[in-house]
This record gives sequence, C-alpha cells and structure tokens, in this order.
Amino acid sequence: MRAVLVGPPGAGKGTQAQILASELSIPKVSTGDIFRANVSGGTELGKQAKAYMDRGDLVPDEVTNAMVRDRLKEQDAKQGFLLDGFPRNVAQAEALNKILDDLGERLDAVLELKVDEEEVVRRLSGRRQCRNCNHVHHVEFDPPRSEGVCDNCGGELFQREDDSEHVVRHRLEVYREQTEPLVSFYANEGILVAIEATGSVDEVTERAKSALRSRA
Ligand code: AP5
Repeated sequence: MRAVLVGPPGAGKGTQAQILASELSIPKVSTGDIFRANVSGGTELGKQAKAYMDRGDLVPDEVTNAMVRDRLKEQDAKQGFLLDGFPRNVAQAEALNKILDDLGERLDAVLELKVDEEEVVRRLSGRRQCRNCNHVHHVEFDPPRSEGVCDNCGGELFQREDDSEHVVRHRLEVYREQTEPLVSFYANEGILVAIEATGSVDEVTERAKSALRSRA
C-alpha cells in the first residue's frame, strides 16, 4: 500500500498513520516529524525549517520535496509507505508523482480525514507528543498513564510550539488555501477516499481501514 493521508491540522493524520503503518508493516513518513527531529538536532535543514514551522507556514517546496525524495528511496519504503503531511499543495503533489514515476511506483490511495475546525482547536490544544518516539497523546482524549511520560517508550512528552491557538488558526487558513485543493486534484486522479474523522480513535481506524481496503 502506497498512500497519502490528507486533512487539516489535528485531523488525526499522525495518530492514524502510526496505527495503520504498524498494522500494514510499512513505514509512516511524516514530513512534520522529520522537520521536528531536524529542529531538535540543530541541523542545517532544521534551521531552515524552524521559522516557517513556528509561524505555521509551509516550508519551501524545494526543501520538502528533496527530503521526501531521499526518504522514499530508502529500503524500508520499497514495499509501501503512508505519507503523513505530504504533499501539502498541488506543486508538491506533482513533485510526488514525478518521484514515484522515477521509482517505477504509483500511489494506491489518498485518504482524506474530515473534521470541523472547532474540534481541531480542541484536539491541538490538548496534544502532547513524545520527544523520543513521536507518539501522540491527548490530555483529555488519550491521557498518558503517568503525566508527562510517553506510554509507548517512557520518553518526555512536550507541547508543540505551533499548537498555540493563534498559530493553529493560521495553519487552518494555510490548509484551506493551499492543501484543500489536493482533494479535487486526487479525486480527478480517481484515488481519493474520504472518511469522517470524528468519534473515537478506534472508530476512525476502522473507517480508515475499510476505505483503504476499497483501494487495495
Ligand atoms: P505537521 O506535523 O504535518 O502538522 P499538521 O499537518 O498541521 O498536522 P498535525 O500534526 O498538527 O495533526 P495530525 O492530523 O497529525 O493530528 P494528530 O494525529 O497529531 O506539520 C507541522 C509543520 O511542519 C507545518 O505547519 C509546516 O511548517 C511543516 N511541514 C510539514 N509538512 C510539510 C510539507 N509537506 N510542506 C511544507 N511544510 C511542511 O492528532 C491531534 C491530537 O488529537 C492529538 O493529541 C491526538 O491524540 C488527538 N486525536 C487524534 N484522533 C482523535 C480522535 N479520533 N478523537 C479525539 N482526539 C483525537
């Protein structure tokens, strides 16, 4: 399965990608997680990306596309992958088609997670992410057993700088203007499947699995 998850910030892309990737034994490739790892590691890529991320703007396409190209060439992505957070505009979608053409591969499905904006703000204000393994908790909907400690690996949980309400509102504008056009782009390619992403994490996973099965 080679699939993309698309949806507004906080729709649950990362949460679902982690569960589905583990069940399908394929890697989850999250551009946001790769950028954050580079920011914490103080790399040149991290330095380039940080100011865009803090404002809630997209990191320039040249930087992002090159990073994804390198990642998809790695051995573990040969049997499939779930892309979380990429592509994020039509130019990136066209770049992805080119990357996959060069690798002799093609996308099987684009899964759209639909959720309303007030729910997004609620989800993101309570999100806590693990510094070590990127596992995502929510203080109310999925609290860790011990406060501030990741259930998955015991790492430290932190609150993302771009999860403050005014940055979230800006990320939603960026989503509407730049990312939402991908829904019709992929509908035209005949590979879009959409699900409601409200309800419990398990309920959303069940909907996601049946939508992806329809494209397998
Ligand atoms: P990125 O990390 O990709 O952020 P995003 O797309 O805004 O998405 P989020 O990670 O905020 O949300 P999510 O949908 O994964 O939700 P999650 O599962 O965590 O990007 C960050 C920044 O990096 C961008 O702003 C940009 O600067 C840069 N960037 C990244 N990719 C780029 C690209 N391609 N091009 C250019 N720049 C790029 O869930 C959210 C919360 O809700 C969690 O707490 C979770 O526990 C909870 N939750 C999940 N599901 C449920 C449920 N069903 N019920 C209740 N709570 C739930």
